Amino acid sequence: MAKELIQSARGMRDIFSPEALAWEQLHQLIHEVLAQFSYLPVQLPLLEKTGLFQRAVGEDTDIVSKEMYTFSDRNNESLTLRPEATAGMVRAMIQHGLLQQQQRVYTEGPMFRYERPQKGRYRQFSQVSVETFGIAGPGLDVELISIGERLFRLLNCREQVTLEINTIGLAEERYAFRRALVDYLQQHTDRLDEDSRRRLSTNPLRILDSKNPDVQAVLDDAPELETFFGENTKAHFARVRELLETLGIVYKHNPRLVRGLDYYCHTVFEWTTDALGAQGTVTAGGRYDGLIHQLGGPDIPAAGFAFGTDRILLLAESTGFFKARYPLAYCIAASEQHLPAVMHLGQQIREQCPHAAVLVQTQVQSLKNQFKKADREKARFALVIGDTEAATTTVTVKDLHTGKQESIALAHISDYLNLKRETI
Ligand code: HAM
Repeated sequence: MAKELIQSARGMRDIFSPEALAWEQLHQLIHEVLAQFSYLPVQLPLLEKTGLFQRAVGEDTDIVSKEMYTFSDRNNESLTLRPEATAGMVRAMIQHGLLQQQQRVYTEGPMFRYERPQKGRYRQFSQVSVETFGIAGPGLDVELISIGERLFRLLNCREQVTLEINTIGLAEERYAFRRALVDYLQQHTDRLDEDSRRRLSTNPLRILDSKNPDVQAVLDDAPELETFFGENTKAHFARVRELLETLGIVYKHNPRLVRGLDYYCHTVFEWTTDALGAQGTVTAGGRYDGLIHQLGGPDIPAAGFAFGTDRILLLAESTGFFKARYPLAYCIAASEQHLPAVMHLGQQIREQCPHAAVLVQTQVQSLKNQFKKADREKARFALVIGDTEAATTTVTVKDLHTGKQESIALAHISDYLNLKRETI
């Protein structure tokens, strides 16, 4: 077999435990938090028609113009591996006629973007994408933000993240601003970098997001989006800020935050961190009132955000939230004839101690070898059944941390382990 075939595609990762186990725990925690806010899960396909993303995310965005995995299927239909989940969720809601009532939903799984891989940036990555439909008003924007706040607190990493918020107003307000911004920047093209010059004709608002200090310096004297806002936009954002303050959610107003997807209006927000180098945005979203109508659905409001779980994992790795999983009981048969009793022992413990990890060594070897394996697995107790134990319906339990050994009646083994589990 050619060696290069045994090499994953660039930007695609294999994740092993303990990281994969932490991944599971993070998703479990996110499910619990979303359940507390009364959100329901939805399952969506990974593939959508290419045109959906072009219409929803926007032709001129980096995602659509440079980063999509697009191919023709056998029927010559152009399909794309989803780069994000909002477009698919909106498509599904319209298709199944679910927009007559308010919806609070989420979906999760892999997303695909052809980006330059680096720490925290992968070509296949994971999001939990949280969406709401039919709920107008700033209260909902703040609810979405408070879901993030709750998660980061539970993960013990609220101190490492900053909440940045902004309003980008309505399409018509942005349009007027866009013209003024382009007029201004065209007089300073010599001070812009190549990326910003390109964006001048494609997506000028994204220039505000530039990380280049020279470009930021040009922007210091540029027209400001805020001056184009009408009363409604101002009142909406003022109320968002007031509600955040009421809830004690600390934020930073970043007037240059615009987001890289076209569908947003009014409130946008990002949770960022300095701990991950360049890929500092761990969660992001905002309101997207016009999108459903634009895609042929009813004219109703919508808002949402996505947790970038690969980055949240990197951030929370060291906060002590994630727990390693080692066998509590490692069950050993002293010889082949005792294997049925040992497998039965495993079954009994799993039934009576449902939260304990039990490993039955099904391949019977010398006791010494099996104890070595139990150590390697970092098991806490080795449970042995041999001739003596079989004759007395007992189990020999060895605490692999202390070396202490005792004989426990088979009928009491689960009580014994439950008690131990509570104290270790
Ligand atoms: P986004 O800002 O493109 O928004 O992505 C959301 C999050 O996904 C980012 O903040 C980041 O944590 C993570 N992410 C994005 N690209 C990568 C990558 N290449 N590698 C690792 N993580 C990545 C959206 O996707 C919107 N659909 C969010 C939304 C939902 N807005 C409303 N509803």
